[in-house]
Amino acid sequence: MTEQNPAAEEQQTEHRRTIKSFVMRAGRMTEGQQRGLEQGWPKFGLALEDGPRDFDEVFGRSAPRTFEIGFGMGHSTLEMAAAAPDQDFIGVEVHKPGVGALLSGLLSQKLNNVRVYSCDALEVLRDCVADASLDRVLLFFPDPWHKSRHHKRRIVQPAFAELIRSKLKVGGVLHMATDWEPYAEYMLEVMNVAPGYRNLAEDGRCVPRPAERPVTKFERRGERLGHGVWDLKFQRID
Ligand SMILES: C[S@@+](CC[C@H](N)C(=O)[O-])C[C@H]1O[C@@H](n2cnc3c(N)ncnc32)[C@H](O)[C@@H]1O
Repeated sequence: MTEQNPAAEEQQTEHRRTIKSFVMRAGRMTEGQQRGLEQGWPKFGLALEDGPRDFDEVFGRSAPRTFEIGFGMGHSTLEMAAAAPDQDFIGVEVHKPGVGALLSGLLSQKLNNVRVYSCDALEVLRDCVADASLDRVLLFFPDPWHKSRHHKRRIVQPAFAELIRSKLKVGGVLHMATDWEPYAEYMLEVMNVAPGYRNLAEDGRCVPRPAERPVTKFERRGERLGHGVWDLKFQRID
């Protein structure tokens, strides 16, 4: 057996940890998004630096809790939160204009069942969310990172599956959707062998489009381009 140089091993581990599933885009903010940030952040914003949170205390109640990774402009989040006032939602997005847009929507729709982080969702899960505390984790239309040399940036990886499993309650569900078939196949490859999950699809692949998932602009665009949409649901079983 060849022994690996410890320095090289450390470098590799460091490299794996710092590969991100997103690139920070310098997006311009509209006035509405800017206003959303200024007025909405004090009410709905949460900071990674504040560490572990008691979300019953944050929301002032104990209700079914959904964690959404990469909400984009927040359209789905708003629609889901408005349709389910008896449930709580934690949305995380790195793109500031999207955060502003969601905050602006929360203010105009007078919703109080959403809280928002503006940073890497994986760090929020690791640092702020208690184990076995989430009912659902949503990953809608994650960046597909088409080129094979970029596949390492895809958010769905064995370590991701394990992190999500640890944060879901037993019986809780990871729901993913994509309009890029090779990414759906890739998700299946990772998730079908991830320990502690059951694929909720009858055929062990994708579930029919769930009514609770709002139609997003990515889905509409996919439909226009003749792409399909693949929904995958995996339940934590232990
Ligand atoms: C293709 S968009 C989809 C947005 C939205 N879910 C939708 O369906 O319209 C993917 C989003 O995920 C965000 N994202 C990617 N990795 C993330 C991470 N680790 N934490 C938070 N947001 C992330 C990106 O900034 C981007 O806005």
